[in-house]
Amino acid sequence: MSTSTAMPHEQPSAAPPFQLMAQITAYRTSQCIRVLVELGIPALLVQGAWSLEDLAEKTGTIPGLLDRLLSHLVNEDVIGKDDQGRYVAVPVTRCLVPGHQQSLHDWVACELNPLLWRSWERLTDQLRSGTTAFDLVYGNTFFDWHTRDSAAQKRFDDQMNGASRGIGAVVVQNMQFEQGTKITDVGGGNGSFLAQTLEKNPATEGTLFELPRAVETYDPLFEDMRRQGRASVVTGSFFESVPGGADVYLFSRVFHDFNDQAATTILQNTKDVLVGGERLFLIDMMADSAQSGARGSSQDIFMLTQLGGRERTAKEFSDLLDASGFEILSIRPTASPVSILEFRSTD
Ligand SMILES: C[S@@+](CC[C@H](N)C(=O)[O-])C[C@H]1O[C@@H](n2cnc3c(N)ncnc32)[C@H](O)[C@@H]1O
Repeated sequence: MSTSTAMPHEQPSAAPPFQLMAQITAYRTSQCIRVLVELGIPALLVQGAWSLEDLAEKTGTIPGLLDRLLSHLVNEDVIGKDDQGRYVAVPVTRCLVPGHQQSLHDWVACELNPLLWRSWERLTDQLRSGTTAFDLVYGNTFFDWHTRDSAAQKRFDDQMNGASRGIGAVVVQNMQFEQGTKITDVGGGNGSFLAQTLEKNPATEGTLFELPRAVETYDPLFEDMRRQGRASVVTGSFFESVPGGADVYLFSRVFHDFNDQAATTILQNTKDVLVGGERLFLIDMMADSAQSGARGSSQDIFMLTQLGGRERTAKEFSDLLDASGFEILSIRPTASPVSILEFRSTD
């Protein structure tokens, strides 16, 4: 009689790698959240408990099918169910309601929209060809597409604006400018961040520099600043030139949209208009910050796929600017995912 010693490969199969399964299937929940938001259900649930039938009628959906979607989101703690079987809001549901202080509604609407979602299908091709996946799918770059597609532009601006408001409130607390300072926000979106900066710093003036768009709409606070004569708009491309005449140049989440070569062109065009003494402030997530982790590296791949851009460490930023003749003056982490890097020209 022989006694056998089980070899590792003969042992009963191990439990499935649950972490990997969760990673593989994470998109299912993303898509359910997108549909929940599209149907406007979070805004309904924060008003009170809803029966399945009433929710289905309100959203024009088939109760039995809606129930399956909602049941999954109950399991994921995105929404809840009370002891009478009615659907209710849980704390995180509020973050999917438009206008909520910490709302990610606009983030869902933009990032999970098929326009951006489809780029991921060409990521393998991007890794082989070097051409940005978005460009492979649409034959156009992200920003060129957006300036022509006003619905997509609005989704993107709203997403940026939502982030700007949350991040802006924290960042702006860290940026004090003397009265009379002229501030240009380069690639400033719809002016939300610049307007908050001007509001925090009395008697300063701001210029929003942005690409010309098919439809120009600005943040209400920015419009207010314009009416007060404290803000103006200049349109153009920073790959051609940057408007001169400012004391301070803000680049809020601009450089992560671009690879080093494109970023260097922007820096050189900025340098061309400096006369001496100006400061550049870069507001970006640092890829090596304590908060970034896997969220930072997934953001890096997002930037790669959609824009051919990249997230950078503080040292990578510093090296990039150093190569264009800028020296770093300070790096200030904030109570948000972004840090503030301050530079001045070395000549
Ligand atoms: C990631 S968004 C950041 C927007 C804003 N600074 C913020 O923090 O919310 C980058 C911005 O750069 C603008 N942009 C892209 N290419 C540009 C170009 N060639 N010239 C000027 N602005 C550009 C985009 O339209 C967009 O609003």
